[in-house]
Amino acid sequence: MLRAGEIPIVEDGLSELVKNGLASGNLEFVLGAAHAAKDCEFAFLCVPTPEGEDGQADLRYVEQAAKELAPVMPHESVVINKSTVPVGSTRVVERVMKRPDVRVVSNPEFLREGSAVHDFLHPDRVVVGADDQTAALRVAALYENINAPVVVTDASSAETIKYAANAFLATKISFVNAIAAICEGVGADVRDVMRGIGYDRRIGNEFLRPGPGWGGSCFPKDTLALLKIAERADYRFDLLQGVVEVNLQQFDRMASRISQAAGEGGTVAVWGLTFKALTDDLRDSPSLEIIDRLIAKGHSIRAYDPTVAKSLRGYPAVVVCDSEIAACEKSDVLAILTEWENFRWVDPSDVIHHVASRHVVDTRNLLDRSAWRTAGFTYQGVGR
Ligand code: UDX
Repeated sequence: MLRAGEIPIVEDGLSELVKNGLASGNLEFVLGAAHAAKDCEFAFLCVPTPEGEDGQADLRYVEQAAKELAPVMPHESVVINKSTVPVGSTRVVERVMKRPDVRVVSNPEFLREGSAVHDFLHPDRVVVGADDQTAALRVAALYENINAPVVVTDASSAETIKYAANAFLATKISFVNAIAAICEGVGADVRDVMRGIGYDRRIGNEFLRPGPGWGGSCFPKDTLALLKIAERADYRFDLLQGVVEVNLQQFDRMASRISQAAGEGGTVAVWGLTFKALTDDLRDSPSLEIIDRLIAKGHSIRAYDPTVAKSLRGYPAVVVCDSEIAACEKSDVLAILTEWENFRWVDPSDVIHHVASRHVVDTRNLLDRSAWRTAGFTYQGVGR
């Protein structure tokens, strides 16, 4: 598929980029790390580092790739680690490779799914970490056409930056979700509160959207991995532990809200299954966390997501529908779990004749609240 320029995931702009690379001859896909790295000056390791059994990052793919590269990398070449790895892993790669003439450099990525191409070409910063500063500067030079500050550090600092950035962003969102809960109790609107604090440049106005809780392939595994790293560094990271707990609480709170609106054994129409919009990634999706809880409470689920066709693997009981309206058929509550833009434009008067009861729980504050209320629905958002 890759050789034909076909990208098996939803990622804006990636297919065009790969097709252009193939057409110009700058990009080629081959089998095997050794085959790819033969005669190269730089080799990027971009393999997954899934969560191991005890929450620590599982380094087996990194080690495997390093082993394959070791015999073929030319003298004085550089291996660049882009995978999110525990602090100290640059040395693990060096140890596995046993090639003192090859430098290992850490160069974490901060791409978001859904805007990965844009984020790569327009990063806020580039981080390059190595104990050999000459090697770090050689890697920094690869980014000379990209307009962003380059932060050159030692290897351990670069590895720590990646975890600290993700944990900080997760902290921001858990904080917002906690403030949202307070707003509901005191009659404030969290969106105004976030606007009011976001203009403070020390706080910044991004990553302040309340929601069903954070998920995806990075935040959940990276926060747990950082807790493990802290433990090994002999520090009790109570703050980050709290951030993770607030997130679990948020799944529980949203599931209870939806369950109550549905009534006992009621059918829930779910709009959105992916962990956020503009991706087809279901890994650690808050939507699935909430569906798990709803199923445990005895609800039936009818779901629609623009990127999920037919069935949801691992969820035989969830009926996957082919449109927003079909998901609402005879449902007792409509739950918005992912912020797909299309959902915003569905006319509530088209939905009315399909539902059994008129209730909406909008965990993304996506819909036009007054339009749905005018159409006769009860509407609950988050933090409003
Ligand atoms: C994240 C980091 O942003 C990125 O820098 C890193 O390289 C990989 O991990 P990603 O997992 O693609 O990227 O998703 P992101 O956009 O950060 O969203 C993560 C989760 O937080 C999603 O579930 C999203 O819905 C949620 N979120 C995000 C909120 O609930 N509110 C916000 O304001 C922002």
